[in-house]
Amino acid sequence: MKINSLIVIPTFNERENIEKLIQAIAQKEVPADVLIVDDNSPDGTGRVAAKIAKSERWVHVLHRQEKAGLGKAYLAGFKWGIDNDYKKIISMDADFSHPVDALPGMIRACNAETIALGSRYVKGGRIVGWNWQRYLNSWGANFFTRFILRLHPKDATAGFKCYPVTFLRKIDLNQIQAAGYAFQVEMLLLAAENGFKIKEIPITFTDRVAGESKIQGELVKSARIVIRLAMGKKTYRQFIKFSIVGALNTLVDWGVFYLLLLAFGIDSQTIKQISKAISFVVSAVSNYLMNRVWTFRSTDKKIFKEISKFFIVAIGGLLINQAIFYLVTGPGHLRSIFGLILASIGATLWNFFLNKKWTFKGK
Ligand code: GDD
Ligand code: MN
Repeated sequence: MKINSLIVIPTFNERENIEKLIQAIAQKEVPADVLIVDDNSPDGTGRVAAKIAKSERWVHVLHRQEKAGLGKAYLAGFKWGIDNDYKKIISMDADFSHPVDALPGMIRACNAETIALGSRYVKGGRIVGWNWQRYLNSWGANFFTRFILRLHPKDATAGFKCYPVTFLRKIDLNQIQAAGYAFQVEMLLLAAENGFKIKEIPITFTDRVAGESKIQGELVKSARIVIRLAMGKKTYRQFIKFSIVGALNTLVDWGVFYLLLLAFGIDSQTIKQISKAISFVVSAVSNYLMNRVWTFRSTDKKIFKEISKFFIVAIGGLLINQAIFYLVTGPGHLRSIFGLILASIGATLWNFFLNKKWTFKGK
């Protein structure tokens, strides 16, 4: 039977681990070839790998010039795997944190529509050997990532995965932004965007015994990438546009109001009320039009229906605004500036999500 799975193992200073890991994979008779991607490790990992590859025909090595990050190493490895016609490509650390025993199950669970993910945070998953700081870091990074990118897998930063090549071919590997650890997260985001399923398989993640982790300093870098990825998501971009449009039209509202007062007299209470009503309608209509054209790019012919919904949502927004302001400044005894801020945030969120889902039908 031809082997159609490839395990890609990036290495940087893993001399003490790599040979043992290859032996363990051989001993377990995992139905997969191996590609070691070494970034010219100063400790000579590349030489050890080359020696193994010479005697074991199923082990291959990619030597790269310099340390360019975990993500870049995986990319190079994945491309090699695609070019060499493998059907499933596994990402795996060299330090025994990812259990060799789990490999056959991961390969079985991976199919044309499904990525298998070795998960620490589903039932049956475990972590061995971490101190509480490391645990807290991982939990925080995972929570942050899942929350702002709306990712469903419980272990969103996991590095142990089996990808079907159908997925790797569908996405544009050259467009991946993360060079380092955020690569793992970006792949999950791409999977979600392209409709691939994720199957989480519980694993026991054991902290490395030999060598050192390279994760120091990567946390902040990765968080930046995660934020940038979030900004690239359509909903976030729309939300920013929606907020800009909202701010602009607040100015329109005030502007029209003062122009009307200037034209028709500042003293009369009736004129004030009429001006207020007119400026509200003018700014609401311009708000609607800008959001239709710019934020949601709607081409729906039923403009009257759309604008009616937009007005209903806006009235709901006004009520929410008032309610929050009352709750915060009244019984809450907080200063009115907080009330104003919280009320606008609440109303903006309400307006945005209702308009997105209902008025503009999820565009
Ligand atoms: N070629 C290459 N180039 N390999 C690298 C580089 C690099 O710049 N940086 C790290 N590696 C290799 C390491 O040698 C190791 O085999 C693997 O990538 C993982 O590196 P570790 O430094 O051991 O990572 P970790 O244990 O801190 O992080 C693991 O858990 C994270 C989630 O908590 C990894 O699985 C991460 O991918 C995962 O996000
Ligand atoms: Mn590790």
